[in-house]
Amino acid sequence: MKPLRWGIVGPGNIAHRFARDIRHVPECEITAVASRDRTRGAAFAEEFSIPHVFESYEAMAKSPLIDAAYIATPHPFHRAAAELFLREGKAVLCEKPMCVNAREAEELIAVAKEHGAFLMEAMWMRFLPAVTEAVERAKAGVIGKVRGLSADFCYSLRPESEPKIFTPAMAGGGLLDVGVYPLHLAAMLFGTEPTSLDARSTLREGVDIHTAITLTYEGGAIATLSSGTMVKKPENAYIYGEDGYITLPCFYSAREYTVTRRDGSEERISLPFDGGFCGEIREAQRCITEGRAESELHPLSTTVAVLRQMDAVRKSIGVSYPFDKKSAT
Ligand SMILES: NC(=O)c1ccc[n+]([C@@H]2O[C@H](COP(=O)([O-])OP(=O)(O)OC[C@H]3O[C@@H](n4cnc5c(N)ncnc54)[C@H](OP(=O)(O)O)[C@@H]3O)[C@@H](O)[C@H]2O)c1
Repeated sequence: MKPLRWGIVGPGNIAHRFARDIRHVPECEITAVASRDRTRGAAFAEEFSIPHVFESYEAMAKSPLIDAAYIATPHPFHRAAAELFLREGKAVLCEKPMCVNAREAEELIAVAKEHGAFLMEAMWMRFLPAVTEAVERAKAGVIGKVRGLSADFCYSLRPESEPKIFTPAMAGGGLLDVGVYPLHLAAMLFGTEPTSLDARSTLREGVDIHTAITLTYEGGAIATLSSGTMVKKPENAYIYGEDGYITLPCFYSAREYTVTRRDGSEERISLPFDGGFCGEIREAQRCITEGRAESELHPLSTTVAVLRQMDAVRKSIGVSYPFDKKSAT
């Protein structure tokens, strides 16, 4: 079988990790990179032995040299970049959050459908064996009836070290950057339709630097989640049941989980971790090769549902972006 030929769009921080991890996925290769900056594109191509460099995203989108694009630009530019490739019938794996709000995501999905092209949000956590197994076992009753989830993804940065995270015009704030992970974990466990959503936040210059979210679900389960950019917390998730709880250390990049039972006994399970990206790349590769329009493991409806939740959180805490009214181009 011919390998799937990937093109990288925006060779910045996370694109380096993608390019390292994809080496572990045998049916894939990177054949091209596109950067608006010739030197940056050439340096990336040299580092990862990529044969073709494009100086515009448009040119790579039109090129027959690639089958699929990995969009690794900052959030406000995902939609426009992804659209270029979808319109040329190319498959797209787009960094999280796929768009800055649910409306943009729905518009992008319509483009993918119109052109029969595969589209998936790059939410690697949904494909990590430790996370999927812990969630499956919780649902199967290993800790009795599941009553709750708590998950925090909070790091502490100095604003001058990463200005885009603190800038409304860059869709800054912790919610879109890292709050998307605990929300997706809650969706994996409880589904995408909470019966209530409540949020509180500390803002700084128009973006959220510490946000707490409470979701409740039919049947009474409660998820308490937080995200932050100027507060350091342990990045753990806990799933609580009537007969015990499951701990997922560093849940968005988990390699293990522990089941603690009512009597205090512990079962610690370690699972393979071959780089954060490998599971999602394998899933994208499988879907594209099979001619699927989306992944049933990480469907577009879930991406939109989580974006709707983030829209509701932002409305409640008073964070709006310039492109909430009009799409960024
Ligand atoms: N999956 C994960 O674990 C993970 C981790 C970190 C980040 N992310 C996501 O990945 C995305 C990229 O984050 P990053 O930190 O890697 O980005 P970055 O390094 O700041 O930028 C990546 C590329 O985006 C383009 N870009 C940067 N600033 C731009 C601007 N002002 N206008 C237009 N294009 C711009 C540039 O492409 P050119 O080379 O073409 O100029 C740059 O090389 C974000 O959406 C983030 O949420 C995911």
